[in-house]
Amino acid sequence: MCGIIGYIGPRNATSIILNGLRRLEYRGYDSAGIAVLGARGIHVERAVGKLSNLELRMQNSESARPPLSILNSQFPIPNSPGFSIGIGHTRWATHGGVTENNAHPHLNEAGTIAVIQNGIIENFIELKHELQAEGARFRSETDTEVIPHLVDLYMRSGMSFTRAAFAAIGRLQGSNAVVLMCSQEPDKLIAARLGNAGGIVIGIGPGEKFVASDAPGIVEHTRTVIFLDDGEAAIVQADHLEVRRLNGAPVEKSPHVIAWDPVSAEKGEYRHFMQKEIFEQARAVTDTLRGRVNFETGEVTLENLELRVENGESSFLNSQFSILNFPKRIHTVACGTSKHAGLIGKFLIERIARVPVEVDYGSEYRYRDPLIEAGMVVLGITQSGETADTLAAMSTGRERGAGVWTIVNAIGSQAERMANGVIHMRAGPEIGVCSTKTFVTSIVDQYLLACALAQHAPQASDASGEAQPAASYALARELAHLPGLISQLLAPDPIYEELANRFHDRRHFLFLGRGMNYPIALEGALKLKEISYIHAEGYPAGEMKHGPIALIDETMPVVCVAVKDSVYDKMISQIEQVKARSGIVIAIATEGDDFIQRKADYVITVPPAPELLTPVLTAIPMQRLAYETAVRLGCDVDQPRNLAKSVTVE
Ligand code: AGP
Repeated sequence: MCGIIGYIGPRNATSIILNGLRRLEYRGYDSAGIAVLGARGIHVERAVGKLSNLELRMQNSESARPPLSILNSQFPIPNSPGFSIGIGHTRWATHGGVTENNAHPHLNEAGTIAVIQNGIIENFIELKHELQAEGARFRSETDTEVIPHLVDLYMRSGMSFTRAAFAAIGRLQGSNAVVLMCSQEPDKLIAARLGNAGGIVIGIGPGEKFVASDAPGIVEHTRTVIFLDDGEAAIVQADHLEVRRLNGAPVEKSPHVIAWDPVSAEKGEYRHFMQKEIFEQARAVTDTLRGRVNFETGEVTLENLELRVENGESSFLNSQFSILNFPKRIHTVACGTSKHAGLIGKFLIERIARVPVEVDYGSEYRYRDPLIEAGMVVLGITQSGETADTLAAMSTGRERGAGVWTIVNAIGSQAERMANGVIHMRAGPEIGVCSTKTFVTSIVDQYLLACALAQHAPQASDASGEAQPAASYALARELAHLPGLISQLLAPDPIYEELANRFHDRRHFLFLGRGMNYPIALEGALKLKEISYIHAEGYPAGEMKHGPIALIDETMPVVCVAVKDSVYDKMISQIEQVKARSGIVIAIATEGDDFIQRKADYVITVPPAPELLTPVLTAIPMQRLAYETAVRLGCDVDQPRNLAKSVTVE
């Protein structure tokens, strides 16, 4: 949830940046920093903790070095009197701890290039080694710092700042938003967006420009904005704005005018909150991962999963966050979408940590007299943290002596207060009633939990060969690629509109999946029915022959998740059975699978990924299909009839 603010124009960049960062504060951060151009070049201040710490640091620096005043005066750009330029950032750690050195902006060695970034640079280790071989000395543990060193390297080879910035950004892999400034070309900021891990919005005012990760950071200054799309970079000057593809090709952008109210500002470039929330999933997952995985070693830290220790000690962790008692079993309790996430988590936790998991409806658990004993955990998954049925199931666990953990999005909610182990989804506010980004982030949380349990399993589990510590390190490293893979699925794709146009008038849909993707079939059906009011059934594909096959005829769209995984062949044979009864097959398949193109009527592709991560990817086409269909039907997407975001009654 890092925040980005940049400014170029006649006003005081420092106060505009600090004010903008404050407006984005609610998204959460652990440190902050600012770089402004002054008479002596780029001046940077950074501080751990709240923005007030940064302000204090700036005041102290001002009194220590009066000529470099950055709080109360403008910083004239050399040769451009009356102009001020700067960038600021609120960081939530991904690579490296929460320290002042790791806070943004980051600089090249000469201090002439300053960079702020949101996202994960997947190839930063290779880039860092390459730069070190060229003599670059790194001062932080961050992935971000490769950018100023790379730009510097290119500028020393004779490129202009603009060309060097484009070339450097072009080498970054993963999903990222980046803003750069350079004291040698002080009349411009360069801002770029790769994928969806962070947005870039550029505000246009008379003789001034603003750059932000989110519109609420700048709408108090201007309502006329442009949003960068994936693969676009902007050369932002006070009185000029140019957008190009990273290969240099110019792009025509039409300005949007954002309505002057907090809701419209928050929606930004999107028509509905649900659409926004679908499209910010790469960013949400980046936030879920922040500080919890060391992408070089694959270690997942229990401490940063916030499995907090109550009253000094819980039954599972000691105050050093090492496991005292490995959970014997886990009962996951949840409702609706959160229960589907729990079903996927069962595969993950059993496969990676070898801890047996049962998943039940929050509404059923307490009425079935569950077998609960000390040493096991009841895990409540809930985005709102207020779902009455899930809370009641968690209470049942607590009353009968189980440890109670929760995976939750809403901070400070009842679920969090009731549990002695908490893992936040960190999806940010989800306004649409239909859960989207909280589904995906709660799967990622369970993946992290599974890896953490495997890695921190007491020796006894290791010796019995049950948990898979070694595999879990490699599995955790894979997570670095996840935001980039999600971004690929969020690219514009006419298939969704085509399917919505073709099938919005159907009264029934069937969704099939197997293995880890069977819960995705359940979730796909739930998404479609709750926002478009089309009846939809989700089934494990192998069950089709035991009943639902009777429904299939030439009018029935059947959405089949058939990615290249261990049950791929089984799914193909189910698809054959649907086709043999003239059903219409919409397949969600792996890119490059030519065979399925011949079998299915429509194919939506997802990028190749390790099997255990595929549900995070296959969930997204389900959301986009449901969204487009509901829009085509003119439904109230964000507030579907009869539904509420928090179901606080039984
Ligand atoms: C999801 O799209 C639904 N709105 C609903 O099924 C929801 O997942 C369920 O009510 C549980 O909510 P929770 O995650 O807040 O506990």
